[in-house]
Amino acid sequence: MANFLTIYITLLCLLCTYPSIINAASTVDSLVACLQRNKVLNYTTPSSSTSFNAVLDFSLQNLRFTEAGVSKPGSIILPSTTKEVQSAWACVRDGGWALRVRSGGHSYEGLSSTASTPFVIIDLMNMHAITVNVAKKFVWVESGIRLGELYFAIASASSNLLGLSAGTCATIGIGGHVMGGGYGLLSRKYGVAADNLLEAQVITANGTLIKKVSTSDPDLFWALRGGGGGAWGIVVAWKLKLVSVPSTVTFFNLRRTGKQAITDLVFKWQSVAPVADPELFIAVYMQAVISSGGVADMGATFYGQYWGTTNQTVALFSSIYPELGLTASDCKQGNWIQAVASVAWLAEPEALLNRQQTSRSFFKAKSDYVSTALTKQALAGAYDIMMNNTKGWMIFEPYGGLMSKIRSDEIAFPHRGGNLFMIQYQATWADDTDSPDNELIAWLRGLYSYMAPLVTYTPSRSTYVNYIDLDVGDSVSAGKSYFGSNFAKLVKIKARFDPSNIFNQPQSVPVSM
Ligand SMILES: Cc1cc2nc3c(=O)[nH]c(=O)nc-3n(C[C@H](O)[C@H](O)[C@H](O)COP(=O)(O)OP(=O)(O)OC[C@H]3O[C@@H](n4cnc5c(N)ncnc54)[C@H](O)[C@@H]3O)c2cc1C
Ligand SMILES: *[C@@H]1O[C@H](CO)[C@@H](O)[C@H](O)[C@H]1NC(C)=O
Ligand SMILES: *[C@@H]1O[C@H](CO)[C@@H](O)[C@H](O)[C@H]1NC(C)=O
Ligand SMILES: *[C@@H]1O[C@H](CO)[C@@H](O)[C@H](O)[C@H]1NC(C)=O
Ligand SMILES: *[C@@H]1O[C@H](CO)[C@@H](O)[C@H](O)[C@H]1NC(C)=O
Repeated sequence: MANFLTIYITLLCLLCTYPSIINAASTVDSLVACLQRNKVLNYTTPSSSTSFNAVLDFSLQNLRFTEAGVSKPGSIILPSTTKEVQSAWACVRDGGWALRVRSGGHSYEGLSSTASTPFVIIDLMNMHAITVNVAKKFVWVESGIRLGELYFAIASASSNLLGLSAGTCATIGIGGHVMGGGYGLLSRKYGVAADNLLEAQVITANGTLIKKVSTSDPDLFWALRGGGGGAWGIVVAWKLKLVSVPSTVTFFNLRRTGKQAITDLVFKWQSVAPVADPELFIAVYMQAVISSGGVADMGATFYGQYWGTTNQTVALFSSIYPELGLTASDCKQGNWIQAVASVAWLAEPEALLNRQQTSRSFFKAKSDYVSTALTKQALAGAYDIMMNNTKGWMIFEPYGGLMSKIRSDEIAFPHRGGNLFMIQYQATWADDTDSPDNELIAWLRGLYSYMAPLVTYTPSRSTYVNYIDLDVGDSVSAGKSYFGSNFAKLVKIKARFDPSNIFNQPQSVPVSM
């Protein structure tokens, strides 16, 4: 009898906590009925075709995941309050649907907008409150905030004296960004966005809201700071530390062409940018160009900022990097928010308020870290591959500064000391009419395999989870690449916090290794 009862209770619990093993999700109609009963009234379904497509498309950044044949959600729910998120989640979970939480929709692999089993998107775009506390130097934000509007609000509230250390693209959502790290022009000085996280509010699998995760669950708080999106519950709000920025910033941008010249300049860059003053940031973007004679050559753009006047910037470059030949005409002097707009390719700071990206493309990306400077020969070999494809590009972003001083296990984001820089590789195309996907993606994989002997392993090949790349493998292989020696601890936290792996995506931290 006791055994029978145990089996019966176990079965009952399997049904209630493992809705995904009930093969079919509830119908869209019953999901909608549940939402209505619970007063969650902003949602859309495929049958309301116009709003459905517009909402699905609104923030989906990689156009590869807008194509026909990509699975679409049974519904997109657009809650406005934490309570609505809790109610929506209960309906989604009890209906047996997989969940995709979407903040800014910038996942490189469309992981906030697609899934392989019947799924529902909870899109947090309507939750974008910001409370800036200038005196105490922090900001509380809801997950649907975009970096651009957040930067703008912080600069406005603090008369341009405070900023936030996070990424460059203005339409990234804070939700996915902090959970992957969040690297930008202030990171050598202040670390990644996740290093500046002070508190978060999370809805768990059973629907409970944890209001102060830093004290009620320090391990989960550690995991949220770089342990990747889609694995740890639904984060609804974030408290981030604000950092001082100077009243005068110089931002620069200069272009060089010629394979030999770029090889020499980038070779030198490796011994300048990662060890420079943390108030100097120099990145380099490289892409092949076709010259007027139809011959392929290399082009490179060096860009970044320095906390000083233009004259001080020019003087600094002439002492540490004279080969680049930076002049005052390559520079603009302004305040921090103007520098932020400039690096996001926006004409003026007000454009940071635009919540939707105006130009989008089809793309595939990969990433690496470099801890031993590349030789000129190695660089030239990469350029030979790049000169075969003008739709491919590479960015080197400098580490060092505070990035090297924070211990690797301080938070879940692991890529610290020893790394000189991070590489991002992309193939980007504007239209898909002649289906170039496979060719371009194969080309990108070729460049990545050429780089294999030259990059960092800890012990798997180091990869940045915010440049998420399904090629890196299943959740175990990917976890080793994304999180290095922090992976084992993440798996333990996951097993304790979400043992039935209710929050998942193809590369989210698994419950066992
Ligand atoms: C054009 C472009 C430029 C970029 N530039 C930079 C850069 O400068 N620096 C940098 O570090 N990165 C950069 N990135 C990468 C970016 O940081 C990541 O794609 C990040 O994860 C995006 O966050 P999101 O909220 O916009 O994405 P989403 O696609 O909404 O989410 C990403 C993942 O997190 C999950 N998730 C999102 N919100 C929540 C939530 N509230 N609770 C639980 N899970 C959630 C999603 O389900 C998904 O798995 C860039 C990306 C793009 C497309
Ligand atoms: C639902 O949210 C979207 C996105 O913000 C908004 O455009 C729309 O007006 C909202 N609909 C309702 C019924 O509130
Ligand atoms: C819900 O989950 C949280 C976190 O796992 C846990 O602390 C809490 O006790 C659970 N609440 C209920 C009612 O089961
Ligand atoms: C900047 O340098 C130029 C050229 O050396 C000089 O003429 C100018 O006065 C300097 N400007 C300032 C503000 O120091
Ligand atoms: C570039 O393309 C040409 C022609 O397709 C090919 O012969 C050559 O091997 C390629 N070079 C590299 C470095 O991939």
